[in-house]
Amino acid sequence: MTSYHFQYTESFARELDEKDSLSHFRYRFHFPKLNGKEAIYFCGNSLGLQPKSVKDHLEKELNNWADLAVDGHFHGEDAWFHVRKKSKPALAEIVGAHEHEVVAMNNLSVNLHLLMVSFYQPTAERYKIIVEAGAFPSDQYMLETQIKFHGLDPEKTLIELSPRAGEHTLRTEDIIAEIQKQGDSLAMVNMAGLQYYTGQLFDMKAITAAAHSVGALAGFDLAHAAGNAALKLHDWDVDFATWCSYKYLNSGPGNISGIFVHERFAERADLPRFGGWWGHDEGERFRMEKGFVPMFGADGWQLANTDVLGLAAHQASLDIFQEAGIENLRAKSEKLTAYLEFLIREISGESGVLEIITPKNPAERGCQLSLLIHRGGKAVFDEWYQHGVVGDWRNPNVIRLAPTPLYNSFLDVFRFAQILEQSLKKFA
Ligand SMILES: Cc1ncc(COP(=O)(O)O)c(C=O)c1O
Repeated sequence: MTSYHFQYTESFARELDEKDSLSHFRYRFHFPKLNGKEAIYFCGNSLGLQPKSVKDHLEKELNNWADLAVDGHFHGEDAWFHVRKKSKPALAEIVGAHEHEVVAMNNLSVNLHLLMVSFYQPTAERYKIIVEAGAFPSDQYMLETQIKFHGLDPEKTLIELSPRAGEHTLRTEDIIAEIQKQGDSLAMVNMAGLQYYTGQLFDMKAITAAAHSVGALAGFDLAHAAGNAALKLHDWDVDFATWCSYKYLNSGPGNISGIFVHERFAERADLPRFGGWWGHDEGERFRMEKGFVPMFGADGWQLANTDVLGLAAHQASLDIFQEAGIENLRAKSEKLTAYLEFLIREISGESGVLEIITPKNPAERGCQLSLLIHRGGKAVFDEWYQHGVVGDWRNPNVIRLAPTPLYNSFLDVFRFAQILEQSLKKFA
């Protein structure tokens, strides 16, 4: 772990910003205002800020639509027929995959279900699923309804892992022990890559290896990991994953999701799946004939023609990611979050108002810190908001703060610290 020597002074924060080679990316984003002042926006874990370039990307497609109408599908430099291909290099880099292992399509919850159609094939012996307790509701509902769809009882099928008594996050050794315990009865591990409530980044490599060692599969919901944590899905041998683009990928509310399917399944036409014409062999698609022939790789899981306007906004952000470089972003992110953590500990100390529950080790977290509020409840969050801090409150009692390396500065973190210090006079 890198050890930093931080200071709680404005000049120190400004110095960190001056030395930060990514600091100029901040000016490529629109910041919301609170009380007439630019907000301290720490909510990229929920909705990433809008890149200023989104407008141009959208306008270009609106012009194509206006000028070319239906011909836009096949004409022009970015014919819509191929539009998904442009996003593949950046997506592959962001999740650590080959281009044929990823594709942008649908929305996250839809993709969670579609991937289960292929990868959850319970038998009388092997049917159980391991998930972290308190998974995001959409994942819980997806698992519950998928299990019922197969005529099984969620109570007997789903194993929800909770942290040990007195702990807030799961230990990798406990996840692995449970996988081994379930052995031949385990069909899959299907959990978050990065837990939305605690901010814990799971060891996907170790979890996948453990799942495979008992003959089970491993799939991950990367909503909070894509564009945030360093991911190597291919090398980790993960079977499948899906994510959304509106959090750290800054692509706009409700915008398109993405999937990863490991290349060992690329030609598995025998896998059960729900077919649609956009997943059908591209060369034959417009013959309009019977007989579904899935495309090679992740593309074979597509159903419908691509949301061109959504992808245009997505591409604006992906271009920025490629320019900044994932590794550079991750390096800055570790330092930025460590600075936030340092200041929170320094200022809140023994106040008893809050406790950071996100792991301390940067390898076990992304940029988000989750603060368990012991005193003051949501009033603490409201107080910060009144002073210009946009984080988010998650029931029952957590405030999530996510300083993102693309558009947050060390000065943002310092300013938040000043607000925190003031608010503690009220709640401590
Ligand atoms: C971890 C996680 N999974 C699933 C979802 C649901 O995403 P969508 O509404 O795009 O399907 C979210 C949304 O915030 C999420 O955070």
